[in-house]
Amino acid sequence: MSTSSSTAAERNFKREFLKISLIVFGVLLICFSIFFLNHHENNKYIIATLELNGSAEEGDALFKMNCVGCHGITARGLVGPDLHSITKRLNDKQIIKQVTGGLTPPMPSFEIDPVNMSNLLKYLHTLE
Ligand code: HEC
Repeated sequence: MSTSSSTAAERNFKREFLKISLIVFGVLLICFSIFFLNHHENNKYIIATLELNGSAEEGDALFKMNCVGCHGITARGLVGPDLHSITKRLNDKQIIKQVTGGLTPPMPSFEIDPVNMSNLLKYLHTLE
């Protein structure tokens, strides 16, 4: 008698355990797919940008319109840091993330297409 009741409890426990495992698995699956999709999207943008050979002049103009308020007209820094030699400290991918990511307020995230991003990168590479 006691054996059969313990088997019932065991079965119950197994069923609960299975249910929880399935829920955990489902949640993990959703997390991973969101992470993967985001990652994939980002990479496409970065790859598209890095494939282009931008124009430093266009980048300079873009910089004057969008960045000088914080980084200064000669990029020597105001609210934001001096950007000279930035390309020695950060690689292109990190710079793209810095400009488009909005990860370090008060610097905003810029919605910028790959052509203009490439121009901007080229300009930043001229700041030795
Ligand atoms: C509202 C002010 C603001 C504007 C506009 C702005 N930035 Fe920034 N930027 C900052 C601040 C502040 C930091 C420092 C963030 C930190 O390190 O926490 C920064 C950091 C950076 C860095 C990293 C510097 C380092 O030393 O790691 C780069 C590169 C950069 N900005 C590029 C740009 C470019 C390119 C633009 C224009 C498209 C731009 N920023 C526009 C404020 C600004």
